Amino acid sequence: MVAPSILSADFANLEKEIKAVAQAGADWIHVDVMDGRFVPNITIGIPVVKALKKVSPLPLDVHLMIEEPERYVEEFVKAGSDYLTIHVESTKDAAGTLKRIRELGAKPGITLRPRTAVEEVLPLLPLCDLVLVMTVEPGFGGQSFMNDQVAKITRLRQEISSENLSCLIEVDGGINAETAKICHEADVFVAGSYVFGKEYGSAIASLKGS
Ligand code: DX5
Ligand code: ZN
Repeated sequence: MVAPSILSADFANLEKEIKAVAQAGADWIHVDVMDGRFVPNITIGIPVVKALKKVSPLPLDVHLMIEEPERYVEEFVKAGSDYLTIHVESTKDAAGTLKRIRELGAKPGITLRPRTAVEEVLPLLPLCDLVLVMTVEPGFGGQSFMNDQVAKITRLRQEISSENLSCLIEVDGGINAETAKICHEADVFVAGSYVFGKEYGSAIASLKGS
């Protein structure tokens, strides 16, 4: 599956952009939420997610890059997040926050920074529908893919099959037709600059062919 990241879309025309990538074959819409603390950038928040939900024909895959996400998960679920992903480094109670997301009716996801060991998230997988492997340092679109993160995908795939879990593996950061091939064990490719930087249909098709 392909989840275009609207961080690289035209923010003045988000409805048009979402409908265009949906038409071009996208599966989910990836929404990057940054608070200027967990990462050194500020993007969008709850009112924008709510507005996107009204116009998106596709599920919203919301990636929270915020400190203490437990303070805001309820509002993000109510705003219409279908998948809601938190960073393991951002909270003292990742397990409790993931359970809360599920109770609220959304699909919980866990993610980790490149320098965090994959072992940190393994015990949380039974609580998740999604695990996101970051292949750039979170904070900005348009960075280069980090090859040294690919082994995490393999480790997660092993764990998911050996424990018979139903968690999807998503990869985010520097994804294009070439790097997606290296991540062939992932289920969902997030791509921002690659999709929005060229003709949407051919970009999405090339990722699906990977
Ligand atoms: C980075 C975000 C990504 C970003 C990806 O913090 O999580 O979703 O938008 O952008 P590209 O695909 O350009 O690396
Ligand atoms: Zn993201």
